Amino acid sequence: MSEARTVLISGASRGIGRALAQRLASDGWNLSLGMRRPVMPDFADPSRTHVQAYDAAAGGDAGTGEAAWVAAALARFGRIDAIVANAGIMIPKNVIEAEDEDLDAMFAVNVKAPRRLAKAAFEPLSVSGRGRVVILASLSGKRVKSAGSGLYAMTKFAAVALAHGIRQAGFDRGIRATAVCPGFVGTDMARSITDRPDEAMTDPAELADAIAMLINLSNTASVAEFAVNCQLEELY
Ligand SMILES: NC(=O)c1ccc[n+]([C@@H]2O[C@H](COP(=O)([O-])OP(=O)(O)OC[C@H]3O[C@@H](n4cnc5c(N)ncnc54)[C@H](OP(=O)(O)O)[C@@H]3O)[C@@H](O)[C@H]2O)c1
Repeated sequence: MSEARTVLISGASRGIGRALAQRLASDGWNLSLGMRRPVMPDFADPSRTHVQAYDAAAGGDAGTGEAAWVAAALARFGRIDAIVANAGIMIPKNVIEAEDEDLDAMFAVNVKAPRRLAKAAFEPLSVSGRGRVVILASLSGKRVKSAGSGLYAMTKFAAVALAHGIRQAGFDRGIRATAVCPGFVGTDMARSITDRPDEAMTDPAELADAIAMLINLSNTASVAEFAVNCQLEELY
């Protein structure tokens, strides 16, 4: 078994997932990166990085699903210390114009896949007595700021509930779960829905620093929700 801690990160090809992978690699973690198109990142040390073909929309498919990923990561590193369910999609439709297919597509990636990943990794996460689960939710999991974010918000409220559910189910086994709830972060996703320049949005690298801090907190410093924003709002 590897001496270094191992983290699984979904959607590590770009955006927040890639920034977090880079940050945790520099902290000495083993990386197991789930990607639709698996490519070894340019910053990664291949001897400490596992890249897994993973499609969050595949419904737990035997080849590219969560159980196969967890098994492959365990075979490679012998341990799983943290999982970060980061892969996500945003369909910018309001709740009236959207169809069931839009909701189903977002629920599949934003809610159902993260739950399956936590379920598949639950036993290995328990082994160290300090497993960590991060669900990349959103401030859209805390409030509905615009009509166009309404459908997405339905899935992110569910993602926040998922993090709380994992926290409840895993607490006695030393597992701590956090719903990370950012506003606009300077990635492709935010650029597709706002004209804000990158410098007016949260920097993915800075968010990665915050997530690294959350993962490193002790069992007696559990953070259930972590909200971070680039702009002033009433509550966040
Ligand atoms: N950016 C923001 O303003 C913001 C704010 C709050 C919350 N979030 C949340 O943060 C997370 C990361 O977002 P981001 O801003 O980094 O988005 P992004 O730049 O659009 O990147 C999304 C990542 O998710 C992956 N992904 C999408 N569908 C997938 C699937 N079916 N299977 C596996 N991977 C899949 C993408 O992989 P491909 O490269 O293969 O497409 C990519 O790596 C998401 O959950 C998002 O909802 C983002």
